[in-house]
Amino acid sequence: EKGGYDHFMQKEVFEQPESIANCMRGRLVLEKGELVLGGINEYSQSLIHAKKITLLGCGTSWHAGLVAEYLFEDICRIPVEVEYASEFRYRNPIINEGDVFIAISQSGETADTLAAIELAKSKGAIVFGVVNVVGSSIARETHEGAYLHAGPEIGVASTKAFTAQVTVLSMIAIKMGLLRGTISQSQFQLLISELNQIPKKVATALKNNDQIEALAEIYKDAQNFLYLGRGNNFPVALEGALKLKEISYIHAEGYPAAEMKHGPIALIDEDMPVVFIATQDDSYEKIVSNIQEVKSRKGKVIAIVTEGDILASSMADYSIEIPKSHYVVTPLLSVIPLQLLSYHIALKRGCNVDQPRNLAKSVTVE
Ligand code: M6R
Repeated sequence: EKGGYDHFMQKEVFEQPESIANCMRGRLVLEKGELVLGGINEYSQSLIHAKKITLLGCGTSWHAGLVAEYLFEDICRIPVEVEYASEFRYRNPIINEGDVFIAISQSGETADTLAAIELAKSKGAIVFGVVNVVGSSIARETHEGAYLHAGPEIGVASTKAFTAQVTVLSMIAIKMGLLRGTISQSQFQLLISELNQIPKKVATALKNNDQIEALAEIYKDAQNFLYLGRGNNFPVALEGALKLKEISYIHAEGYPAAEMKHGPIALIDEDMPVVFIATQDDSYEKIVSNIQEVKSRKGKVIAIVTEGDILASSMADYSIEIPKSHYVVTPLLSVIPLQLLSYHIALKRGCNVDQPRNLAKSVTVE
């Protein structure tokens, strides 16, 4: 059942080239310049003409929503809010008839997300679902949606569901951008071609497994970790920190790198490993100066860099390369080494990676 792997989490991390390809299969047809989401149909006009979109989720699914926020704003020029379903439902939120929501959930059974959907629907909102488990409660309760088609995820730490969620949300954003006229046909073609290359690039990123295992040996006894990123890699930093917390029980925090100087920089000393997502996009130079700030305070830097990088990697104690990509799709690659790092650290600490303490795969109680 684990298909030759030692753990479900390991299997699920390594099958991401296939799960992402499955998620795009029959939807993204590059040669024809086609992007079709069959499940979004009757209500597609409300999505295309939305004045605002609210994304709902918990945990990793909330992180996927944060990545999507950058995409919807940038590609579709639509204001976006991303809400923890558990906060939203108890906040007397302002919901008007026809408002548009997208609920994100692997299991489709998360109680808080389900309750937030019911609340939104009761006020006349249109709710789309981005769900993995077919026929689950959230899939049934939402008006329409797009399944992840990632296959069953058994490990408690969500991995392939995250990359599939980001893939589906990217496809929705790119399609909407074209229909709204906020991206041109040639930008559309470029973005779908970038998405289409992701499975192959994820496979390349996974080849650094042995290097990451060796790094895990060095840092397995750390008591704290910081994860920093900017732009759409900020939510990836949150996701990397969550993975480490939940399966290795090391305290880890994710922050936008620019926020470091507003507090967390005080934590930095020679015992503090800091994982930077330092890929070569618009914020590269800024990230490089953030690395410098950590190094000058004797922090240990692990940098996730674009292949061939020289500057960030020369400043970092260790660097892990990922293939070059358009910044819109980079989170699908930058998260891979973070998943592997948490997996190897947890194993080396003797933790049960598939069933961490105190956690259940789906949280059906509030
Ligand atoms: O099934 P869902 O996507 O609705 O679950 C949401 C969270 O409970 C889930 O992502 C949780 O945070 C994971 N254990 C994270 O790895």
